[in-house]
Amino acid sequence: MLYSKKVMEHFQNPRNVGVIKNADGVAEIGNPVCGDLVTFYIKVKDNRIEDIKFQTLGCGAAIAVSSIVTEMAKGRTIEEARKITNVDAVKELGGLPKHKFHCSNLGASALQAAIDDYQNRQKTAKKDVSAKPIKKDIFSCPYCEGPVEGLEDYCKRCQVELKKCYKCGNLMKKGEDKCPHCGASQKET
Ligand code: FES
Repeated sequence: MLYSKKVMEHFQNPRNVGVIKNADGVAEIGNPVCGDLVTFYIKVKDNRIEDIKFQTLGCGAAIAVSSIVTEMAKGRTIEEARKITNVDAVKELGGLPKHKFHCSNLGASALQAAIDDYQNRQKTAKKDVSAKPIKKDIFSCPYCEGPVEGLEDYCKRCQVELKKCYKCGNLMKKGEDKCPHCGASQKET
């Protein structure tokens, strides 16, 4: 089977879906290549994630990962939740097909960005709902499918320099002649 039982179960019956009004941290993460979006909301009490919810306009794998990430983070301290990665989420789900691994980046990154938002608000004492949630895009490395955050031109895990294919917009290795996604020759650029 392409997807594990657990992935199918979380996809069909996702946990913690919804919005938290007056959340302490909010973040929206998008994948500019497929257009999918995930928003995470966290409520923090005594340094613990007391409540967590998500909304997604994403594929089945992104729904399952977001759902499991909320389960993994709920009740954890901020420091414990900080350690949750996309690799942990995929392991917890019993794996994802290689070509869907990049979908795990959305849920895990949205959790981390919601924690960033919470901590920023703590620092600036802006705990009111008018504080703007974090919004950012996340790219995936075409080789390890891991997150390439902030630095869109380098994958730390593979240690390769990346660039966007002029035709399909996906990331590819710098200096490579042919895009591994759409096959476009880069010599034309
Ligand atoms: Fe976009 Fe899965 S295809 S997150």
